[in-house]
Amino acid sequence: MADTLTITDNRTGRQYEIPITDGTIRAIDLRQIKVDPDEFGMMSYDPAFQNTASCRSRVTFIDGDKGILRYRGYPIEQLAEHSTFTETAYLLLNGELPTAAELESWEAELGGHAPLPEGIKSLLDGFQPDAHPMGVFLSSVGALSTYYPDAKQIFDDENRRIQVARLIAKAPAIGAYSYRHANGLPYVDPDSSLGFAGRFLGMLFGEPGAPYTPDPVLERALDILFILHADHEQNCSTSAMRGIGSSQADPFASMAGAAAALYGPLHGGANEAVLRMLAAIGSVDNVPDFIKKVKAGEGRLMGFGHRVYKSYDPRATVIKEQAYRVFEVTGRNPLLDIAIELERIALQDDYFVQRRLYPNVDFYSGLIYEAMGFKPAMFTVLFAIGRAPGWIAQWQEMLRDKAQKIARPRQIYLGAGERDYVPMDQR
Ligand code: CMC
Repeated sequence: MADTLTITDNRTGRQYEIPITDGTIRAIDLRQIKVDPDEFGMMSYDPAFQNTASCRSRVTFIDGDKGILRYRGYPIEQLAEHSTFTETAYLLLNGELPTAAELESWEAELGGHAPLPEGIKSLLDGFQPDAHPMGVFLSSVGALSTYYPDAKQIFDDENRRIQVARLIAKAPAIGAYSYRHANGLPYVDPDSSLGFAGRFLGMLFGEPGAPYTPDPVLERALDILFILHADHEQNCSTSAMRGIGSSQADPFASMAGAAAALYGPLHGGANEAVLRMLAAIGSVDNVPDFIKKVKAGEGRLMGFGHRVYKSYDPRATVIKEQAYRVFEVTGRNPLLDIAIELERIALQDDYFVQRRLYPNVDFYSGLIYEAMGFKPAMFTVLFAIGRAPGWIAQWQEMLRDKAQKIARPRQIYLGAGERDYVPMDQR
């Protein structure tokens, strides 16, 4: 059996044999298919990249039909149970779990890079108090590039390692200070004696100069949420990170772009949209009416559906379990009952069943975040802090991949043909 695809062009009767590698043909192999030798040649048309692989990757595996997610081969459920966010970040970036010494040195490095430059704090001071934290986050990540011009040396391994640690370590301070600024509160320095999630909670909810002890259940729940968000292969924001990085922009600029892509309500902004939706529904009694409206095309059931998962998102299962643990400490979020009822009805309703729409990572995460004291506008920032290692691991893989070039899709031009400029008085 040949690993090839034979294509017959019925316009010319010519046949082409195209190699198949890893179940894939190369779009560039279609270019030889022409009617006239002078024409450009065949392209594939794939808006939103629904069936186009843009890279070969060894970072994250997803089987959307079976609800499987693995980082570097490790099932997400095992990482959520046994790993920590810093260890998972190391795994994503380096391909293997760290030894005890490697983890200790990685965590010390992250602790050392956690403070923000004074100028970034002044920049944060300049935002309106009601500025959306994601707007603040992506601007500040981009601004970091001006503090570390050496970050442009992206092919220098040691230099890149430092910038990677800076990006992951500083993201929590940016998120925390955007919250402190919005609430007129002074900034709290990162405490390097705390773990990654605890340090973040301290910068958010602590007092300057005073020791802060995070609640262990909340600290662990946040750490797990960061693990669950740490990577998700070629999603919209990761593709943005790879796309921007393919121009050899520095990683701060690339991650600012990735954060911008995450901001939208169809991507990382969905967790915020879920909370607003639950609050607008108001009570369990209103759920059937709301579902009716969604089915009539009047809005979406936010936190449901996924481009890749056509079964239960495995991250949603872990988050739902964590929600109950968190609520034991914080008290039950009253919106939980509305979420459970929405899920119950949606999972048995033909509209959702036929379209294979299940809860995704964003459906329950907002309920936990809110119970922990976060305002909905902060939710996407939490997603971004967790996603940073994945964005960066994918960006590094792209830089090392000899098959990659500057990202530059083709188009099918359907606009006007050549025409002469019309002076203003003749229009
Ligand atoms: N509520 C109601 N109907 C939906 C929903 C939803 N949440 N999601 C998809 N559909 C319908 C859609 O109307 C379409 O129906 P029809 O075939 O009759 O036109 C069908 O399902 C297929 O939808 P699609 O928009 O073609 O699917 P997509 O793969 O382009 O979109 C999605 C994926 C996540 C953008 C979409 O499911 C959605 O908008 N969900 C709500 C937003 C959300 O929760 N986003 C977070 C995604 S997970 C975290 C992340 O990766 O950021």
